[in-house]
Amino acid sequence: MRAMVFETAAGPDALKVADRPMPEPGHGEVLVRIGATSLNYRDLLISKGGYRKRQKQTDLVPLSDGAGTVEAVGPGVTGFKPSDRVTACFFLDWPAGTATEHAMESDTGRAVDGMLQEYRVIPVTGLVHTPANLTDAEAASLTCAGLTAWSAIVRLGRAEPGDAILTQGTGGVSLFALQFAKMNGCRVAITSSSDEKLDRAKALGADHGINYAATPEWGQPAHDWAGGDGVDNVVELGGTETMKQSLIAVRPGGTLSLIGVLSGATTGNVLLPFIISRDVRLQGVTVGPKDAMQQMCKAIEVAGMKPVIDKVFPFEDAADAYRHLASGQHFGKVCISVSGD
Ligand SMILES: NC(=O)c1ccc[n+]([C@@H]2O[C@H](COP(=O)([O-])OP(=O)(O)OC[C@H]3O[C@@H](n4cnc5c(N)ncnc54)[C@H](OP(=O)(O)O)[C@@H]3O)[C@@H](O)[C@H]2O)c1
Repeated sequence: MRAMVFETAAGPDALKVADRPMPEPGHGEVLVRIGATSLNYRDLLISKGGYRKRQKQTDLVPLSDGAGTVEAVGPGVTGFKPSDRVTACFFLDWPAGTATEHAMESDTGRAVDGMLQEYRVIPVTGLVHTPANLTDAEAASLTCAGLTAWSAIVRLGRAEPGDAILTQGTGGVSLFALQFAKMNGCRVAITSSSDEKLDRAKALGADHGINYAATPEWGQPAHDWAGGDGVDNVVELGGTETMKQSLIAVRPGGTLSLIGVLSGATTGNVLLPFIISRDVRLQGVTVGPKDAMQQMCKAIEVAGMKPVIDKVFPFEDAADAYRHLASGQHFGKVCISVSGD
């Protein structure tokens, strides 16, 4: 079977097609024919070896996200059968509950091979049924970005109708956050460096758009937009350059859902009393467990929600998918068709 492999972690040019033996499912495992996969920001870092000792530096099949069809099941498997449409979880061994060190090491496309291959064996602990209304590319985008946004808005964020949510940028996580917040009756402000992308986000349901390039001090305008005491939950994706603005935007007792570090991973410009004296909750978010993935899939199917797919690249052009994501031109998810028909 064909796999796309980083011979070395030297960026998209180092991606090569390789012939790999067909895997066989063991006890509690399912053999999945991968229909499509999708890319996340972290995959750009991994492509250049950015996780250092915490990733495979040679011969890595990348990408955590995948959806496809069950080809065969191993002994002891219940709940899945050949021809079922399935989607991989980000953590293959985090069934439910709070995060554990073990669960946090069960992601794929980093230290172990991921989904950019025609077939992959996946344990049932890391597999869910695909929402019937989604294509494989749409479903693959749920693995990381979808569930992360669901966790920020619903699982940990506990959104209430009428809440004011602010989400940053128009990448994968942010547009899912917009969609899930609207599904839950929330008001949503979104930031972007592009007015054209803000218009597209409004067409998806955003109530308010702020261009963070034109208005770098967007915290107070966001606070004013929310009315009352400010924003209830900020989907914090920027890190270094955005956290101070997020703290200005959020209401006392509100939440910063700390997810991303797009502009840097440290912050020296935040006044701690701003958090302490206002009862602000800093909530780290790391994707989520399988039971939350199942809940999210159910909600997507019932609501008929469709993830926003920017572009689907053919398997052979996987390197171009990486380049496209790195360009920042995308709006929503960048996907790759693996054995999609
Ligand atoms: N904790 C977790 O479990 C988890 C899971 C998934 C992702 N993440 C992290 O979340 C972040 C977003 O991931 P993603 O996959 O959604 O990325 P993505 O699809 O590549 O989205 C990037 C977008 O974010 C916007 N952006 C870039 N710099 C920004 C800044 N300084 N302020 C505000 N917006 C900015 C841009 O939108 P515009 O073009 O509209 O300006 C850009 O297109 C990354 O840091 C990623 O590592 C964390």
